[in-house]
Amino acid sequence: MTILGIETSCDETSAGVVRDQNGNLKLLSNVVSSSSPLHAKTGGIIPEVAAREQIRLIIPVIKKALEESSLDFQNPSIDVIAVTVGPGLIGSLLVGVETAKTLSLLWKKPLIPVNHLLGHIYANFIDQEASIEFPAIGLIVSGGHTDLILIKGHGNIKWIGGTRDDAAGEAFDKIGRMLGLPYPSGPVIEKLAKEGNPKRFNLPKPMIDSSDFDFSFSGLKTAVLREIKTIKKLNNQIINDICASMQASIVDVLTSKTINAAQKYSAKSILLGGGVTANQTLSDKLKLYAIRHKLNAEIFVPQKSLCTDNGAMIAAYGYFNPKMVSFDKVNADPSLYF
Ligand code: KG4
Ligand code: ZN
Repeated sequence: MTILGIETSCDETSAGVVRDQNGNLKLLSNVVSSSSPLHAKTGGIIPEVAAREQIRLIIPVIKKALEESSLDFQNPSIDVIAVTVGPGLIGSLLVGVETAKTLSLLWKKPLIPVNHLLGHIYANFIDQEASIEFPAIGLIVSGGHTDLILIKGHGNIKWIGGTRDDAAGEAFDKIGRMLGLPYPSGPVIEKLAKEGNPKRFNLPKPMIDSSDFDFSFSGLKTAVLREIKTIKKLNNQIINDICASMQASIVDVLTSKTINAAQKYSAKSILLGGGVTANQTLSDKLKLYAIRHKLNAEIFVPQKSLCTDNGAMIAAYGYFNPKMVSFDKVNADPSLYF
């Protein structure tokens, strides 16, 4: 089975192709074009700007993904098109969904509507040699979401907790903005944190001891703002120390809740997904805590290029959840959840 995946939920325009080979899901191509340099100038995404860029890029990106997979754009030998239908920005989602519907009609291929958040989790199945066993705990940490889910099997998913306010990625981006760092700030903060002291600022670790699986990161943002206001002049070392301290707080909360969830549900696997999982400190700490807590679960982190938004992960979800529908049954749903 060969699947084309299309992803346009936020500021990326992406298409990827996956194919099953000898029981493994192989990545044939994954083309991602981001409009984030445009948003860096404004310190955040302007939805209208993102959608306009996506209209310009969507066909060239799909053409390139097919070309790199040795498939013909006029009549590609694919079985199905998987497309993100939500959650996300309505204008951006519409670009991907309407393009997928048009291609479905043109190529006479069915569609699989995909929840973007689950796509992030399925990035773990691409080029994966090890077998991922269930039940699994999924931690989704992106710019807009922080969620813990229990996966009993493909198509058998239960939400067990999530953020009550800001998402983890949002906290990285908002604190980065306060420090004058470019958008998206997550990767920049990770880099600066390497030169910083994570113990210099005593920042809160919100809800770390609560017995539920919920999160809250807006208090952390306020605490950082308070610290910044007491400092006369921010120099590089102070910025590095703030980055290290805030990253440590977020990583500790995410790690602790994920380990608790894995223990409670006797998980055999932990699957990370979303842009924040590109953060090496997060995956390192999770692996360390898992050993310390003698956890019987294997931890999976997608390849770095598959952590942030991409079309291949959407195709991977479609492969394991092949609920195919005709083009007239597919609609963008910006507030889609679990
Ligand atoms: O999943 P994603 O690409 O888009 C959404 O679905 O939101 O995630 C983007 C988020 C941004 O907030 C970005 O700052 C964060 O992921 N991010 C990181 C890192 N790389 C991206 N956060 C921390 N460390 C990173 N290395
Ligand atoms: Zn995402």
